[in-house]
Amino acid sequence: MEKVIVEEQQGTTLELTSKEQNSRKLYIESYGCQMNFSDSEIVASILSDQGFNTTSNIEEADLVLVNTCSIRDKAEQTVRKRLEKYQRVKQKANPKMKVGVLGCMAERLKSKFLEEEKIVDMVVGPDAYKDLPNLVAEVDEGRDAVNVILSKDETYGDIAPVRLDSNGVTAFVSITRGCDNMCTFCVVPFTRGRERSRDPQSILEEVQQLADKGFKEITLLGQNVDSYLWYGGGLKKDFKNATPMQQATAVDFANLLHMVARAQPHMRIRFSTSNPQDISDDVLHAIAEHRNICNYIHLPVQSGSDRILKAMNRLHTREEYMRLIDRIHAIIPNCAISQDMIAGFPTETEQDHQDTLSLMEYVKYDYGFMFAYSERPGTLAARKLEDDVPEDVKKRRLNEIIAVQRRTGFERAQFFVGKTVECLIEKESKRSDQHWAGRNSQNYVTVFPKENYKVGDYVMVEVTDCTSATLIGTPIGLSDMKGPVTYETQK
Ligand code: SAH
Ligand code: F3S
Repeated sequence: MEKVIVEEQQGTTLELTSKEQNSRKLYIESYGCQMNFSDSEIVASILSDQGFNTTSNIEEADLVLVNTCSIRDKAEQTVRKRLEKYQRVKQKANPKMKVGVLGCMAERLKSKFLEEEKIVDMVVGPDAYKDLPNLVAEVDEGRDAVNVILSKDETYGDIAPVRLDSNGVTAFVSITRGCDNMCTFCVVPFTRGRERSRDPQSILEEVQQLADKGFKEITLLGQNVDSYLWYGGGLKKDFKNATPMQQATAVDFANLLHMVARAQPHMRIRFSTSNPQDISDDVLHAIAEHRNICNYIHLPVQSGSDRILKAMNRLHTREEYMRLIDRIHAIIPNCAISQDMIAGFPTETEQDHQDTLSLMEYVKYDYGFMFAYSERPGTLAARKLEDDVPEDVKKRRLNEIIAVQRRTGFERAQFFVGKTVECLIEKESKRSDQHWAGRNSQNYVTVFPKENYKVGDYVMVEVTDCTSATLIGTPIGLSDMKGPVTYETQK
């Protein structure tokens, strides 16, 4: 997801509408963050112009691509296992198939992949997808192909995106690529390169195309969306060298939010991910001002200890983060907040861990994505710090973090019981074909009887019950998506 890693989505294949003139078959499988899923749609779009239709049957594929994640060791192990599976399919059922590795693992391991995994014919990093036609031609001629060159300006802003029509209601639109933050545990700056922003005009056009197709909600995607800055192209770090004119007319993330919200008053807008050190009060005011920008911020913190935050190169303190939380609640009534947390970063003591738990008690997060520290080769933490917290201690601390999250999530969800929420219907509930599932502004999955409503409707739902992450209710009518939905203040 969002950056957010949606477990149920891992390994999903993409199947798009076919072009009749295409004769070859592409099977593409994606792992990791939302950006990877979004990139796979770009890849499928590029290859659709090269004679490939997508298939969900690996045994009939001419080309098998796997879009990979390097964020934790476990993510890489999952992909290695998939490659073994491809090997078996190739031997038993489909000797003609070629295999390509895309994404972060491709970038991290480069041509080493070809030596380590005999099944792999092609290795393509996240900035090299436009070179796929050439790389496929190389492979067709029996040669291995590699392109892992990172770019300072590639944003794929000019690729007409092809959507995986899963629900036709919600879609992701990427606005920045790469990350300049250099958190010491994180491999992303190495696998996805320097931070660059996409032309706001091309973002607005893509959103318009989605609106024309009937989509109702978009999520603006980036490793660090609050750092978005458009001044005519180029890296964020070079902004200081831009002309005075470019600097004066630059578009930052708050500006972009205003532009998209005004252009599409009937579409919901979400965004992910926010970095505490980069989110501005202007962004908070933009969220508060526009009815159609959802009241939900994913605000990873990673640790509640100042010492660990410093060692992670997170450029804010615990106190600054808490004051930011206060400002969010003061500016945006009923804003849901979620976290990413890492348990067992090198040198983390029991006291540091307690600081994390007490920060969580302060914030009372609505949701969380929690991980045990996994050392990533090449990162500053791996080079400078020993991975010295024993696995069982990491696991125990992680479980304690998860327990606090479950409790505060449930408390937050209970706030909505007895209230009426606006819900955008996305699909049938997983548990019952008599119920719809959608989300409210605060991103809580909301389940209610179907009645005569349909996918894509905004419905007002009276909440009667909840679990820690799901609201259960009764629909009371369509929403006009005009006036604001307000509750007494939640803090
Ligand atoms: N800014 C990015 C972060 C991507 S990584 C984004 O949100 O788009 C997602 C999360 O994975 C991080 O916030 C962090 O909590 C976790 N993570 C990253 N590197 C990790 C590591 N080496 N070990 C454990 N968790 C890690
Ligand atoms: Fe990674 Fe930190 Fe960027 S977590 S993606 S280096 S903000």
